[in-house]
Amino acid sequence: METVAAALPHALPLGTAVNQRGNLEVGGCDLVELARELGTPAYVVAEDDLRTRARSFHEAIRSRHRDCDVLFATKAFPCTAVCRTFVQEGLGCEVGSAGELHMATRAGFDPARIHFHGNAKTEEELGAAMRAGVGHVVLDSLNELERLERLAVQLGLTQKVLIRVTPGVAGDTHHAISTGQSDSKFGFLPDDARGAIDRLRGARALELVGLHCHIGSQLFELEPFRAAVRTLATLGEFPVYNLGGGLAAAYTAGQHPPRIEEYVAAIVDAAHEFLGGDKRLLLEPGRALVANSTVTVYTVQTVKRNVSTWVGVDGGMSDNLRPMLYGAEYEALIADRPLTRGTERCHLAGKHCESGDVLARDVALPDPKPGDVVVVPATGAYGHSLANNYNGALRPPIVFCREGAARVVVRRENPEDLVIRDAG
Ligand code: LLP
Repeated sequence: METVAAALPHALPLGTAVNQRGNLEVGGCDLVELARELGTPAYVVAEDDLRTRARSFHEAIRSRHRDCDVLFATKAFPCTAVCRTFVQEGLGCEVGSAGELHMATRAGFDPARIHFHGNAKTEEELGAAMRAGVGHVVLDSLNELERLERLAVQLGLTQKVLIRVTPGVAGDTHHAISTGQSDSKFGFLPDDARGAIDRLRGARALELVGLHCHIGSQLFELEPFRAAVRTLATLGEFPVYNLGGGLAAAYTAGQHPPRIEEYVAAIVDAAHEFLGGDKRLLLEPGRALVANSTVTVYTVQTVKRNVSTWVGVDGGMSDNLRPMLYGAEYEALIADRPLTRGTERCHLAGKHCESGDVLARDVALPDPKPGDVVVVPATGAYGHSLANNYNGALRPPIVFCREGAARVVVRRENPEDLVIRDAG
């Protein structure tokens, strides 16, 4: 079994195996059977993978630093079952809208351990956040500072806040998900942050407790995280530092991001060196907690050979926008022969009315045929959250698998869901 597991792509969920029938198993569930029973496309989640990664974050930080918390970035996989799993694992969370706040509190996250983000939070959202009792609002602009102060006075409460700092540090990632560079819509540049800090000294109803930064997502290098912490240290001393998320996940065989332990060690070391050992440290991972927990299963509808080989499946940019938005690369396997090496380079095409709707390019699928169940690993982060109804696509179900038992935690959409809000 070990050699088999070693031959599988490392982007697959922990515990993925090939069973005696030769079929791929996630969370102990046969993906060919699951596809037959539940239909495709479907997001299949190995619940234990989520739990293991949550524990890795906790252990890594708790073993190095006393006063700390790990906040799940809910935008990465906003669904009640995922949130509940992380509540059970003892995580707090961050939200970026009133909608995410609603889902997070409903799933059981303690409001006091929620950080509320956003570069253009509305008055309604700020009010909802304070009424829900969120622990920290992360201020992103002076306009927001003034708006929040006014609302807090009206509500008669004192709101703890952090200031989001844009440190002028850009990691090596796609420009659409880089946030630490100076020319960014997010946060305060260090000089502006100094102004906001001064402004908050005299603020009514707002209590500045610390600083936040999040320099971007899908980052492989640890040095930019260190550089960001070094910049925060120039702004004075605070009790709380939220150092964001951003750790990369592996999507393909060629990608080897730092392990959770390595990443946490680097951040904590930087914090100890530049901020001191007595601060409250928070991390906000999204992708690194959820990306590799999930595979998407599709069924091949067509195989067309022209200049290339086009393997058309029953999903696409409606369930995974990442290749189209960020040029993200994925691998693909066939569920009933995952270890068979294909010789033909194929493009895994979605079913939507756009040429750009290609889920994976140049994947070696072994003699793909209509009816084959295709498995795309590492779709747990920003797959479900960016899913949409383009071309009337029905968004896929989410299925949790654990020790051979499968449970649908989000049902598949049906055609009526597409018109349920229509008034005309
Ligand atoms: N904290 C804040 C304030 C964030 O904005 C984000 C992600 C995170 C934490 C979590 O970052 P992570 O650990 O997941 O890198 N849709 C894009 C990613 C957008 C990330 C947005 N912010 C993608 O699919 O690659």
